[in-house]
Amino acid sequence: MDGKGEAVLREVGIRKRDVVLDFGCGSGNYAIPAAKIVGERGVVYALDKNRWKLDNLMRKAGSRGLRNIVRIDTSGEIDTGLDDRSIDVILLYDVFWYFPLSDRRLPILLDELYRVSKPDALLSVYPKHIESERLRDKIEGHGFTFTNVFSGNLLHDNRLEKGEILNFKTKSACAETEQIRSHNVALEIEVKAYRNELVEDAKFIEDLREELEAQTKSQLDFL
Ligand SMILES: C[S@@+](CC[C@H](N)C(=O)[O-])C[C@H]1O[C@@H](n2cnc3c(N)ncnc32)[C@H](O)[C@@H]1O
Repeated sequence: MDGKGEAVLREVGIRKRDVVLDFGCGSGNYAIPAAKIVGERGVVYALDKNRWKLDNLMRKAGSRGLRNIVRIDTSGEIDTGLDDRSIDVILLYDVFWYFPLSDRRLPILLDELYRVSKPDALLSVYPKHIESERLRDKIEGHGFTFTNVFSGNLLHDNRLEKGEILNFKTKSACAETEQIRSHNVALEIEVKAYRNELVEDAKFIEDLREELEAQTKSQLDFL
């Protein structure tokens, strides 16, 4: 099963050396594959309010020789204890049904996740038992922009089933991408202008050469 989880997470966008927060990680269906992908120079913060699930996860990590998982035990209150702008990827898989759309803790959770996200972080959500359209709007209202859907066979309750993962980026990352894109467009226009100028210059030089040739010919004819 680890292999399946790894394939999904690679598609989603986890990379070597990433710092990942798996919020509501359970027994590590995804935290373990994530730890394998990020490698020794990356970290997976595995956060859950269920101590027994975290114990189970750490046992599994130990038996696989993974030393890059840091467990975060919480009381269920929304406080990751992580630094501002410290996380590359946040996983929220099969967790949102604990935070119904009307739950007062949902905006608190989204604000906390935004606080710990690096400016170009990825927030990846596997929405189960919740209306995903409205959840998507809520997430977009808290500093994230929806980017794409990943559809495929996903791990759920220790088996594979067809499902969809929604991916978001922090808005600042999208703004930065937009800035780079418009900068590139400006550069392209400049290059085109130079190219036109060069064409014009070449035409001017050719005309001059022809004129000189004609003058030389008429002077020679005169002689
Ligand atoms: C259905 S499990 C999903 C586990 C894992 N993400 C997966 O996809 O296999 C949901 C997990 O979220 C945890 N959880 C729910 N509310 C939480 C909260 N407020 N703080 C921390 N963990 C929470 C539960 O303890 C449970 O382990």
